[in-house]
Amino acid sequence: MSAKQKLILALDVEEKSRALELVDRFGEHIDIFKVGLELFTAQGPPVVREIQDRGKKVFLDLKFHDIPNTVAKAARTAARLGVFMFNVHASAGSEAMRRARDEVVAFSLKEDRPRPIVLAVTVLTSQNEEVLKTELGIQHGLRTHVKYLASLAKQSGLDGVVASGQEVLMIKGHLGGKFLIVAPGIRPSTAPPDDQKRTMSPAEALRAGADFIVIGRAVTGQADPEKALEQICLDIAPYG
Ligand code: C5P
Repeated sequence: MSAKQKLILALDVEEKSRALELVDRFGEHIDIFKVGLELFTAQGPPVVREIQDRGKKVFLDLKFHDIPNTVAKAARTAARLGVFMFNVHASAGSEAMRRARDEVVAFSLKEDRPRPIVLAVTVLTSQNEEVLKTELGIQHGLRTHVKYLASLAKQSGLDGVVASGQEVLMIKGHLGGKFLIVAPGIRPSTAPPDDQKRTMSPAEALRAGADFIVIGRAVTGQADPEKALEQICLDIAPYG
């Protein structure tokens, strides 16, 4: 896989026209576009279909976190929508993850369609150890918690996790190279962290072994997004 195929561009906008404009503008360099809460809440499934109609893949980043039955049904709906990947919070627990996976496997077999990649979110990249301890009551350290949730996701049959680039080596070392890692919180050294706390540069994350990296404001929030993307493509070229 070339380095460019590992890039996922986050379409963190509300209007469909702006989202599709980004797809058309960067489609030459990017194959996977991420539809998250903002865009999906505003536009729903039609925007996903329009991106797919342009020959692009969609990462549906809705981070399902609910009771197992609801997560399983939402997973089947994501599979019916034909997305390339979607995610569930690992903190929803093993039953929710397992049932999400079982639903997409059953649906894809029945419909004879490719199965979406199912990922678990470990700890949001906007959170650090301090937040885990003082707000969420998790005392055993951030890296331990990420490792624990990633192991639970693997045991529950998921394909991989969403985690910070800073945790890629640890997770791959612990769970093996085939367990996928999608890393958001990506920032070239020149870009501000914004609300992200566990950041890494695109090249560092890929060098560590991330299978995909999510780029949002480091491209779309820049004065010259084309130039920002071009620089990222140059930086990651050796990691294809
Ligand atoms: O603009 P930025 O590159 O920070 O955007 C990161 C994107 O990845 C956002 O759409 C955010 O919702 C998403 N994301 C994240 N951390 C996770 C999972 C998804 O930042 N753990």
